[in-house]
Order: sequence, then structure tokens, then C-alpha cells
Amino acid sequence: MVLAILIGVNSRVNLAVFGSGNGSNCRAILQAIRDKRLSATVTVIVSDRNDAGILKIASENDIPGYWICKEQYEHKNQFFDNLFRVLKQHKVDMIILAGYLRKIGPPLLEAYPERILNIHPALLPAFGGKGMYGLRVHRAVIESGVKVTGITVHIVDGEYDHGPIVLQKTLEVCDDDTPETLSEKVLQLEHRYYAQAIQYFAEGRCHVHQRRVIIRSTNS
Ligand code: GRF
Repeated sequence: MVLAILIGVNSRVNLAVFGSGNGSNCRAILQAIRDKRLSATVTVIVSDRNDAGILKIASENDIPGYWICKEQYEHKNQFFDNLFRVLKQHKVDMIILAGYLRKIGPPLLEAYPERILNIHPALLPAFGGKGMYGLRVHRAVIESGVKVTGITVHIVDGEYDHGPIVLQKTLEVCDDDTPETLSEKVLQLEHRYYAQAIQYFAEGRCHVHQRRVIIRSTNS
């Protein structure tokens, strides 16, 4: 079943934001929409954890929020049926992962081809993959001795932190950085730039050639 809708130039995109944690990126996306830096509407928020901060953001902003995870169902297809029902009900064009710790299954990837984005708190393809999230990423960055780190927004494919890269921004790793200080600085960068990457899609400016995401300039 293909739910994906081609997003035309200048149309408002309906987003589902998926998260397992605090949801600070979701908050930043909502702010970007209010500031008119992002032509989108967050029509639904989904979490696999009922105590996730991101669900509080949903209720604070009068956005429908759902706790949906595989463990609630006897069969995997019941999980996907319910998820698709919710996505359809809220007319979702794109899925934005913001700290969502579950792997995205093939049915969702097929329904939203090149319409699922993730943000990772390091410069992929380094410091990514299964189990690389939160402070573990920043600890690995510091231990490796690299001088720069940053953020990566990428299209989601069937492997963790692997799909085509949409946007990367860097920052310096200072000698006195700890995983905690780095995490804070990287998060600030995420909040500044995730919306920009989504906006490229909202404006219909992206296409993927081999593994490269080509972003058409606004003049062409
Ligand atoms: C961010 O660091 C993001 O890169 C990663 O998970 C974290 C989510 O933070 N995928 P928040 O829930 O948006 O505050």
C-alpha cells in the first residue's frame, strides 16, 4: 500500500514526528513552523514509549499524540495496520524521526519512499549504527580524538544511520569537551538545522541520485 503523496512546490507538508525521548527537536520543528521557516504542519506525534517527553509536547500543542509500539500487539501486521490507520487519518506526507530508537520496518519504508528523515548527532558514516545514540555517540567521538563533530540529517533506509545524507553541519571538538558538553552543543545545532532539511523536501527541491541527495537551488 503506497500512502506517499508527491509533495509539490510551496505546498504545506503534513508531518508525523516519531520520538522515544524528550522531543527537543520536535519542539524546535514546531518553533520553525511558527517562525515560518518551515512550511509544514505537524499533524501527529507518535512514540513507542508512553512516558516520553515528546508526547507531552503533543498535548501542550494540541497535536494528536499516540503511544504505539510492537509489544502492544500479538502480530507485527496488527502494529503496522494501526500505525498506517493513524498516518492515514492524519494525512501524513512525511515522517520525521526525532530521537526515535526503533528501526523503521519495510512496510513504512515502502509506503514513504524517501519521505522518512532522521537526525543523528555526529557526522555519518562515522559514529553511527545500532546502539549508537545519546552520550555513547559523543563518548566515541571524544575517544577517537577527532577535531570536528556535528549533525547529519539523512533519508532513512533499512539500516541504522545509513540512508542518503541530506545535510551535515559541523562544530569543533574542544580539548575540554565532555560527552555532556558536546551533547549540548550538538543538540543546539540540531535545533537550528533539522527544520531547514525538512524545508528542502517541503519545497520539492530534493532528489536522490545514487547515494547523493541533490538539492536544487532556489534560483533554478
Ligand atoms: C538527538 O540527539 C538526535 O540526534 C538523536 O536523538 C536525540 C533526540 O533528542 N537521534 P530530542 O528527543 O529531540 O531531544
